[in-house]
Amino acid sequence: MTKHAHSVPLKTIWPSVCAEAQFVKAKEPTLAAFLQNSVLDAENVLSSLGRILSTKLATAEVPAKSLLGIFMSIYQASPDLEQSAQYDLVSIMQNDPAAHDFITPFVFFKGYHALQTHRLSNWLWQRGRKHLALHLQNRMSEQLGVDIHPAATIGHGVMLDHATGITIGETSVIEHDVLIWHGVTLGSKTLTGGDRHPKIRQGAHLYAGCSVLGPVEVGAGARVAAGSIVMDNIPQGVTVAGIPAKIVGGEN
Ligand SMILES: CC(C)(COP(=O)(O)OP(=O)(O)OC[C@H]1O[C@@H](n2cnc3c(N)ncnc32)[C@H](O)[C@@H]1OP(=O)(O)O)[C@@H](O)C(=O)NCCC(=O)NCCS
Repeated sequence: MTKHAHSVPLKTIWPSVCAEAQFVKAKEPTLAAFLQNSVLDAENVLSSLGRILSTKLATAEVPAKSLLGIFMSIYQASPDLEQSAQYDLVSIMQNDPAAHDFITPFVFFKGYHALQTHRLSNWLWQRGRKHLALHLQNRMSEQLGVDIHPAATIGHGVMLDHATGITIGETSVIEHDVLIWHGVTLGSKTLTGGDRHPKIRQGAHLYAGCSVLGPVEVGAGARVAAGSIVMDNIPQGVTVAGIPAKIVGGEN
């Protein structure tokens, strides 16, 4: 079962990110300007994220400055996004053995950046600004290799590890503390509209390259093995594997 992202005091995260950025800046001068502009000149997690994401997602026609203005107005209107951004970071620290400090996933992990981009595009989608939301989805897909429809519902404490090729359809629901590896598809089985995508319950793990197809439920804490294809409901707490996926293990 996923370690809960909620156990870490969130107020310690930004000071840690800044201290680690200072340390890396001193050790690796090549990264000094990047760390200064994207982290050390920022006031908090959201102002730093705004700088990082706007630079990554900019185009000649929709430049970083315009995006930064939009992102900061969203963050101002919805300060709860800071909590999600922090819980997502803590989840990486707790579940990815390759993450040894906060600064590494914060500035380098594209799964983290894709998820924070989704939170912005979802905010815009919910308020009827669908084309700008779709522009962000398009840039996320082009720049970060992750394709999440802006309407998808995603809880906090979620980790997208490695993340390349993760594809999440419009009516998908992903609850808190879910872990998802590269190449995972949450897709529909048909070309008709309506509620057609999976519901992934709290703390489930979707391992590399698996597909969950249709409006099926993966129960809380269940694990879907790498490369499996799920087309039926999966009870909570079990491990499933194969094509089609069958139960191969019990409570983990
Ligand atoms: C889901 C997973 C964690 C299960 O691990 P586990 O609980 O140790 O399970 P086991 O290895 O004991 O396997 C149980 C059974 O499922 C089968 N199985 C496990 N993974 C499978 C898979 N991906 N596809 C098909 N069968 C699989 C095993 O062969 C075994 O079958 P058996 O009982 O007939 O021998 C693991 O299989 C997995 O998929 N890990 C992927 C990790 C990943 O994505 N890594 C990428 C990181 S970059």
